[in-house]
Amino acid sequence: MIHAKKGQGRLAALILAAGQGTRMESSIPKVLHHVGGRPMLYYILRIANALKPGAIGVVVGHESDEVKRRTLEMAKSVGFNRPIQFILQKRPLGSGDAVVESLPFLKKFKTAVVMCGDTPLLTYESIYNLTLTHEQLKGQATLFTARLPNPKGYGRIVRGALGEVQRIVEESVASSKELGISEVNSGAYCFEVESLVSGLRGIAKKGPKKEHFLTDVMEAIRAKGGRIHAYTSSNGEEIQGVNNRAQLSAAERVLNKRMLERLMLSGVTIRDPLSTHVDADVEIGQDTVIYPGTILRGKTKIGRMCRIGPFTHIEDTQIGNECEVRFSYVLSSRLLEKTSVGPFAHIRPESNIGPRARIGNFTEVKASRVGFGSKVNHLSYIGDADIAEDVNIGAGTITCNYDGKAKHKTEIGAKAFVGSNVNLIAPVKVGRGAKIAAGSTVTEDVPDEALAIARARQVNKT
Ligand code: UD1
Ligand code: CA
Repeated sequence: MIHAKKGQGRLAALILAAGQGTRMESSIPKVLHHVGGRPMLYYILRIANALKPGAIGVVVGHESDEVKRRTLEMAKSVGFNRPIQFILQKRPLGSGDAVVESLPFLKKFKTAVVMCGDTPLLTYESIYNLTLTHEQLKGQATLFTARLPNPKGYGRIVRGALGEVQRIVEESVASSKELGISEVNSGAYCFEVESLVSGLRGIAKKGPKKEHFLTDVMEAIRAKGGRIHAYTSSNGEEIQGVNNRAQLSAAERVLNKRMLERLMLSGVTIRDPLSTHVDADVEIGQDTVIYPGTILRGKTKIGRMCRIGPFTHIEDTQIGNECEVRFSYVLSSRLLEKTSVGPFAHIRPESNIGPRARIGNFTEVKASRVGFGSKVNHLSYIGDADIAEDVNIGAGTITCNYDGKAKHKTEIGAKAFVGSNVNLIAPVKVGRGAKIAAGSTVTEDVPDEALAIARARQVNKT
């Protein structure tokens, strides 16, 4: 197997990512637009890495510094273990030109897999099969193709009388007969580098923008006696490219569907897949139920037997077993076992809640700990607070953590009871087992077991 041989020099992976992405109508480089919560390029990098090539080349051009920076960031965050080399394409003169610029890199290898950075639905399985087909059929190039009911926008595969691949014709230069061909080019190929090098010498500038089409190299390779084969996908969905925002949303839908299917088959109940969005790296344990209108983003990890949703957004958050989060917004926090949040709660970053804690309706928690069994059930703001175990925070209680210049901490000891509508003016400490009368504005520390009353006595005038 090509990819399994350790010796460098066998296989290179090349990713084309220098295009401007004009059709995206965007100031963000196309390959950095997100699908499934990750830049499109991420999915291709992941496949490239999994092929275990000698090195991965990434052709950059438009906004090259940004694409480079993000590529290295992605590679680091998921532990890619292949060397990455950037190739600068000075001017966007087409996919053929991008590969010409990459030749000094490719020449160190015998075989090259070339993929486009804007086809995030490709699967490792298919690209691996492409390399196997290439190896078995011993041609000079092997294309990854698919038959689409609507081939519009793609290069078409022209085959001869015996079914042999002859060339790829781009839509912009295709005849009306060629436009009727349903087999299309995915933009992923496997090449013998030697044949690619000699083939590229012969290709001319074409189309309205006078570009070098990489696809023209097929005809050139054949003209020199080479053979072209194809590995055809059984599922056209995965070859979909993203050139505009409509295609971006189509890709998002496919990735989401894949993700939800994977979760359902691993034991997660998803009540309404059509209204549930889950990013590619989210993990969910068995027997958890996800209710409609739920969005799970980033590095969120949810335990077993939880009930999440309806209408809940959770991002970069770890949630233990048997938790419940309903109609709520939760960011970069931890909810420990058997904790319940919502309906209508806002949990802001760096909150650590539970186990067995309860955050109720219209409550906001920010950068705070709410300990074992503690309750903040109604209409509260808890910010920069450390709340120990078995504390009860009455309705409408506010930690006044900000004096206009700096943030201050509120500490509340175990088993304390804070009455309704209390203002805790931070920095302040409430001792273990202390009680605070409803309506108090607490400006001084409250000792353990003490009762604090900090409000004016009622006067009834007649
Ligand atoms: C390309 C293929 C088409 C195929 C389709 C699959 C060519 C000529 N056509 O068309 O046959 O069906 O992909 O999605 O290749 N790029 C560069 N430098 C450039 C131009 C492009 O690096 O100067 C990169 C882009 O970043 C992109 C890839 O090459 O990742 C393909 O370019 P794009 O303009 O999207 O080609 P398509 O029109 O989609
Ligand atoms: Ca494209």
